[in-house]
Amino acid sequence: MIDIHSHILPGVDDGAQTLDESLEMAKLAVEDGIEKMVATPHLFRGNSLHKNLGAINSVRNKLVGALEENNISLQIFTGAEVHISHNLLEEIKQHRENLVINNSSYLIVEFPPDHIFSGVKQLFFDLMSEGLIPIIAHPERNSVFRRSPELLFDLVQMGGLCQVNSGSFTGLYGTRAQEAAIQFLKLNFVHFMGSDCHNTKASKPKIAASVKAVASIIGEERAKALVKDNPAAVLDNKEIPELPEPENLREKKKSFKIKLPSFFKR
Ligand SMILES: [Fe+2]
Repeated sequence: MIDIHSHILPGVDDGAQTLDESLEMAKLAVEDGIEKMVATPHLFRGNSLHKNLGAINSVRNKLVGALEENNISLQIFTGAEVHISHNLLEEIKQHRENLVINNSSYLIVEFPPDHIFSGVKQLFFDLMSEGLIPIIAHPERNSVFRRSPELLFDLVQMGGLCQVNSGSFTGLYGTRAQEAAIQFLKLNFVHFMGSDCHNTKASKPKIAASVKAVASIIGEERAKALVKDNPAAVLDNKEIPELPEPENLREKKKSFKIKLPSFFKR
């Protein structure tokens, strides 16, 4: 399997803090059946390291060397989790090669948990005009997307993609995120499942159990695509093969007619 979202790089964000912790995370990932992992440190979030992208590259190289030395067969790929806001287009363009996954056109973007800025559709349009394909990290953890799945539909309809966290299906982030993950899956909004692992305790690099849970909803083939075929296409900078038509909730609502009780009728 390929884990498209992880915080395995030591000492660059709120993920692994030491090289030893990164190596322990890597061992857990391999045990779970993960062969490739995209390292996606938080960038542009608060006072994150976005001014020091070179340092992140050297940390990643150090981890790759340590994995080899310790015979841990986990391949690490470049990427980032970009905390986006309306005014980030220029910065993203400027640092593009340090932000996209494995030099591809795919870019993981994250929204704050309780807010979506009003210009989001324009920014997505602008990103796509630059040839970038935004992958929305864990939309099931965002209260705006949970309340208004129509907004997520619009972004997917525009060509945006979604990555849900494996822990969302096991209830790691609570019932609301779990229910939303299942709803988005059923609405065909989900294209990837990643671990979003941060450590070896509460936020582990574990995906396999959730693949089974997802398979019980959308079938084994499509579940596998979320952790194999689609992320493999991203690493190769190709179009993802599993891209189902998203369901438009507005259409469903339109066909839903409210029957008024007789005392409202004149
Ligand atoms: Fe993350």
